[in-house]
Amino acid sequence: MLKSNLLVVTMGPELVLYFCLFGLRGHLLVSTAPIENRPQIIQVPNSGRFWHISDLHLDPTYHITDDRTKVCFSSQGYPALNPGVFGDFLCDSPYELIQSAFQFMKEKDPVADFIIWTGDSPPHVPEEELSTDMVVRIISNMTHTIREFFPETPVYPALGNHDYWPQDQLPIATNDIYQAVTKLWEPWLQPEALTTLRKGGFYSQVMRPNLRLVSLNTNLYYSPNKVTVNMTDPAGQFEWLEDTLKTCRQSDEKAYIIAHVPIGYLPYALGTTAMREAYNERLVEIFRKYSDVVAGHFYGHTHRDSIMTLLDHQGQPVTSLFVTPAVTPFRHANEHYSNNPGLRMYYYNPQDYSLLDIWQYYMNLTEANLEKKPTWKLEYIMTKDFNIEDLQPKSLYGLAQSFKTPQSETFQKYFNHFMVSYNNSVVCRGLCKLAQVCSALFLDHKSYFNCTL
Ligand SMILES: *[C@@H]1O[C@H](CO)[C@@H](O)[C@H](O)[C@H]1NC(C)=O
Ligand SMILES: *[C@@H]1O[C@H](CO)[C@@H](O)[C@H](O)[C@H]1NC(C)=O
Ligand SMILES: *[C@@H]1O[C@H](CO)[C@@H](O)[C@H](O)[C@H]1NC(C)=O
Ligand SMILES: [Zn+2]
Ligand SMILES: [Zn+2]
Repeated sequence: MLKSNLLVVTMGPELVLYFCLFGLRGHLLVSTAPIENRPQIIQVPNSGRFWHISDLHLDPTYHITDDRTKVCFSSQGYPALNPGVFGDFLCDSPYELIQSAFQFMKEKDPVADFIIWTGDSPPHVPEEELSTDMVVRIISNMTHTIREFFPETPVYPALGNHDYWPQDQLPIATNDIYQAVTKLWEPWLQPEALTTLRKGGFYSQVMRPNLRLVSLNTNLYYSPNKVTVNMTDPAGQFEWLEDTLKTCRQSDEKAYIIAHVPIGYLPYALGTTAMREAYNERLVEIFRKYSDVVAGHFYGHTHRDSIMTLLDHQGQPVTSLFVTPAVTPFRHANEHYSNNPGLRMYYYNPQDYSLLDIWQYYMNLTEANLEKKPTWKLEYIMTKDFNIEDLQPKSLYGLAQSFKTPQSETFQKYFNHFMVSYNNSVVCRGLCKLAQVCSALFLDHKSYFNCTL
């Protein structure tokens, strides 16, 4: 196990949240909040669009039974809370939930330009309950499921820390799992991408004219990964990344960065990066250097809906970064909050690939189980609900700055989407707000630790 970071955050008079962060416990709270029904017609003119899904965490053992401790292995012996067809907040995803997500995406927009999929397919269960073979089988199941629903759509995956056995220990050289996913994802990727995927779990590929997708294996930098301790450039990925972005610049290409473990500081654990700090610093510098090339970053892993901005050395916002909520509703039994299943669509400018908007969707798990109907709803439209023009770095930075205002209603709205509470009166103040706001504004050590409200 790695070091444990326990942060106690006071949120309002009687409510105290314990955010415990070690190993897979890094995945706690996520969010979606209710909205009224709105017209759900897609009408952003002259834009391209793509889906982002993450953290599907299939639990093949999920089934309804009278003994609630036996509903799913992922509840790890705790009784499921309110198990229904589409899942339970103490369990990872039943297959029905995952199918409903893809069914919804297909109905909503069968001809999206592409899908990005940022990893974590296996369930949260103890090491002994999985094996290399089971992890491969689950990733294979998810791969085939996506292909069944979207046979014609290009899909760009990234590996997650759970997409390995034992979890988090992703190696710096080829192994059974990198080889298995290279085979599974062959229909989506070109030979050059497959070569680096097989070797190190990362790749890049041109997706559209002058747009390159860069899929990083940031699990190599993840704090619990013991394989890479003390290494300066695990699997040579930093060097490869710099070379790749340099080539992009020379060929006049833009890049979208996708990865599982996000760069920057965690919004729920003050002063804590998901990656080891030195790796985080190195990545920030690379992304600053190539900010003219990188048109957006897309991450998963925290299971939480959050934004970040990359500032250059002069403090100017240069890149927008996004973390998407999970499809799984899972939380650990000792956590007070969870997320409803979520997925999102991005809109982009097809000329320069700048980002225009997010339409965030969610399933109210309680309601879906009650009605035995897998209804996915629009949760928010980023530009409309946060009153910003687009997702450009300036707009996003302005939004994050506005959070600082005492009693900022925009911040409260952002926080409500960040997590689903069982008590709507939760207010995030003090250290809770500091962690949220500083994580949205700063990615590097120096500026983060100078951050104040
Ligand atoms: C989900 O539905 C339940 C039951 O209808 C309702 O009580 C709850 O407020 C809803 N939650 C969200 C986040 O929409
Ligand atoms: C995936 O696993 C589920 C059960 O967990 C099974 O019902 C389904 O047929 C599998 N699908 C594929 C494509 O392997
Ligand atoms: C990493 O480096 C530290 C400090 O030099 C050393 O104490 C530690 O044993 C090293 N760990 C490994 C796994 O090499
Ligand atoms: Zn996850
Ligand atoms: Zn993860």
